[in-house]
Amino acid sequence: MVPGIGVEALGDGMIMRGVRDDKDISTFAAFHGSGSNKVYGRMSSEWCRVWRMTCENLMRHHPEVLRDEFVIVEDERTGEIVSTTCLLPWHCQYEGVSLDAAMLEEVGTRPEYRHRGFIRAQMDRFHRNVADRRFDFSIIWGIPYFYRQYGYTYALDMQTADTIPAWEIPDAGKSEKSPYRIRDAVEDDAGVLAQLYQRSRSSLQLYDIRSLDYWQFLLKWMKYPARLIIDTRTGESVGYFCVEKLEEKEGIKVYESAIFDNDAGMFVLRHLKSEFGNEIQVGWPQTGELVRLARSLGSTSLPVYQWLLRVPDVEGLIRKIAPALERRIEISVFNGMTRDLCVNLYKKAFMLRFRHGKLENVDAADFVDSSIGAEGGDINIPPDAFIRLVFGYRKIDQLLDAWPDITVKPESRYIVEVLFPLMKSYFVMPWQYYGPVDL
Ligand SMILES: CC(C)(COP(=O)(O)OP(=O)(O)OC[C@H]1O[C@@H](n2cnc3c(N)ncnc32)[C@H](O)[C@@H]1OP(=O)(O)O)[C@@H](O)C(=O)NCCC(=O)NCCS
Repeated sequence: MVPGIGVEALGDGMIMRGVRDDKDISTFAAFHGSGSNKVYGRMSSEWCRVWRMTCENLMRHHPEVLRDEFVIVEDERTGEIVSTTCLLPWHCQYEGVSLDAAMLEEVGTRPEYRHRGFIRAQMDRFHRNVADRRFDFSIIWGIPYFYRQYGYTYALDMQTADTIPAWEIPDAGKSEKSPYRIRDAVEDDAGVLAQLYQRSRSSLQLYDIRSLDYWQFLLKWMKYPARLIIDTRTGESVGYFCVEKLEEKEGIKVYESAIFDNDAGMFVLRHLKSEFGNEIQVGWPQTGELVRLARSLGSTSLPVYQWLLRVPDVEGLIRKIAPALERRIEISVFNGMTRDLCVNLYKKAFMLRFRHGKLENVDAADFVDSSIGAEGGDINIPPDAFIRLVFGYRKIDQLLDAWPDITVKPESRYIVEVLFPLMKSYFVMPWQYYGPVDL
């Protein structure tokens, strides 16, 4: 258990606490997997069972979660759960620097208990945990707007895809015989999937890391539907892809793929065309070979949704990504630079102290006035816009449209552009149960 947080009284007979034992696990899972409490409105019984399996398996088998971070709000008078959240730990690569992320999930309150501050109380607890365990950022996908009120910023592409009608995929020539075949991955394939995944991320500067343990968890407990592409000439697994049916349309979405060869990619698209007909969606990153192949055949991109990020300690994050910042300086005209750079987030500011190309320190600065006649920082930028900049999601000039209150001293603009360029990034982060429902 994380020190300092146990049972917290919320008044009026309500308490907030972490999951403790097997009974709590089952009750938490039943809360999400039961249509009768209407947390998610009217969902199919299939959906409810999937959600139940998801909760059970996360708490029982995820290699890293702490049960105490599956939080419940309980009505002490009835012993019933009325609201929940949980923390799922993740790791990612930021240009060679490992960052730790906490994902907020399982957010829901029974309708008759809403607007009583139960999610707000759990968000506070979640953010205390994030700070205590020194996560670099927290991340969530969520209902529109809601998480902005807790300091979250929309910042990275999420669940985005290209779409292509199946008829645009050319059929194979009559005499053409593909050397590939497909088979469902099994638990023993965790090692090869980990390698293929890592290789598929080599074109990105920011992505979520998947350890061997995590692959094993996905395959064994979450029945992750990875399908391996086997080269029959060598017997080797040369790639993989995962698909889900598009519920409202006749079609299919490849939401993850690791493909490195044009012929293998064409084989997969043709296979999907013959198996599913209609529309084929190919999940990003845009650097992925299957997306590039689909684009060459005429695919177009669908609207982009975004992950929400929150950074509890911005100076700490900058210190952590120092190796990446120093590399950017090293390969630029600022190689060997010695200077201070004041980043002013308006309510707080800090100084990046570079000495001979190294980021020697990041010091908190006193209030930096940017009003008329005052000097201001080298860059003055609202905190939410800064998160987009640091994670390489947008450049300064792309941010100005929504944040005209960003200003940069002309003499500092070039170094700011060098320090915070656009980054190729993509997070997939699968954690749900994908298999048959046997509860
Ligand atoms: C969204 C949901 C979790 C909110 O739960 P809740 O217990 O009512 O939340 P709280 O009472 O703690 O409200 C926290 C704040 O959010 C506001 N709020 C509540 N629902 C909101 C919504 N749908 N959109 C925007 N703000 C909302 C409240 O007014 C409150 O603001 P305040 O603290 O400034 O007064 C709940 O409506 C729910 O379970 N919905 C269905 C499941 C769902 O959508 N889960 C989220 C998946 S990402």
